[in-house]
Amino acid sequence: MLSKNYSNRLFGRTRGRSKKKIDLKKYHQMVAKYQFDNCNDKINYILDIGSGYGETSIFLANQFLDKIVISCEKYIDGNIILLNNIEKNKIKNIRLHNGNVYDVLEHIHRECFDLVWIFFPDPWPKNRHAKRRLITSDFLIKIHKILKQSSEIHIATDSTIYTRFILNSIYNCKDYFAWLNQSEMNLHIKDYFDVETKYYKKAINYERIPSLFILRKL
Ligand SMILES: C[S@@+](CC[C@H](N)C(=O)[O-])C[C@H]1O[C@@H](n2cnc3c(N)ncnc32)[C@H](O)[C@@H]1O
Repeated sequence: MLSKNYSNRLFGRTRGRSKKKIDLKKYHQMVAKYQFDNCNDKINYILDIGSGYGETSIFLANQFLDKIVISCEKYIDGNIILLNNIEKNKIKNIRLHNGNVYDVLEHIHRECFDLVWIFFPDPWPKNRHAKRRLITSDFLIKIHKILKQSSEIHIATDSTIYTRFILNSIYNCKDYFAWLNQSEMNLHIKDYFDVETKYYKKAINYERIPSLFILRKL
């Protein structure tokens, strides 16, 4: 099992608001069955960070049958839905890290990922919470270290505040990543992928158009 990283605190909920009881023993048995432990050099991996209810992990697993998707999420209610979907649909190529993505980033010391997805990271819109935002230039540089040559990071957000923050982080990492879709007319997710997550649908309901940033490792 990956060791827990305590230098990078986790913010936000690990359980949903519903009072529905969870059988934690059964949950941990399921997590153990699909636990991500380490990278194997013979296998190609995708990292799905903050996978929520797992829609992106399922989408990626179906798109890339020759790769293993590492779904990284601390939200237990979301992981239960993902694990149930994996079992129900007999999906063979998803592993889970039930916890902080920093556990993965600090455990892996080589370039083993072909792709990293970060869909709708928590925007923490208040100024006093800005330090909680996941995507910073330091974070992107950590991802750079575990990505294979010329591999990509895909980041989606519907928050204008976070968009500015992400653009600033991309600019500060211009020696590490090329921003591939910067000259496109728009950055709409649906121009690239047919996937709808809970936060994608929420954005559309509130008439916010999500943007997708595609970065390639230099
Ligand atoms: C706004 S939700 C988006 C969920 C999903 N990607 C979607 O598009 O619906 C952000 C998710 O990132 C997870 N998250 C935030 N920080 C994390 C971290 N350091 N490691 C792993 N997951 C994290 C949260 O638990 C939350 O489920």
